Amino acid sequence: MARLVELEANGPRRLTADDIDEEKGDVAICQCGLSDSFPFCDGSHRQTEDEAADECYVYDDGTRKLVERVICDDDPA
Ligand code: FES
Repeated sequence: MARLVELEANGPRRLTADDIDEEKGDVAICQCGLSDSFPFCDGSHRQTEDEAADECYVYDDGTRKLVERVICDDDPA
């Protein structure tokens, strides 16, 4: 499985002691790209549990769509 995600940051996010979950005592970093509180996991990854291994998806406001193909613009204006 693969996922297309759109990220707008153009630099790193430095984690601090304040980022530690006071109840769990840890920091969970999102690796699926779907978290509304990126870079932190918010449980949105549960939407991906039944993705097919050989498909690519995009998520739009909680709706999953299958990506047929990606077209790149080689000459952006
Ligand atoms: S890993 Fe992305 S929301 Fe949990």
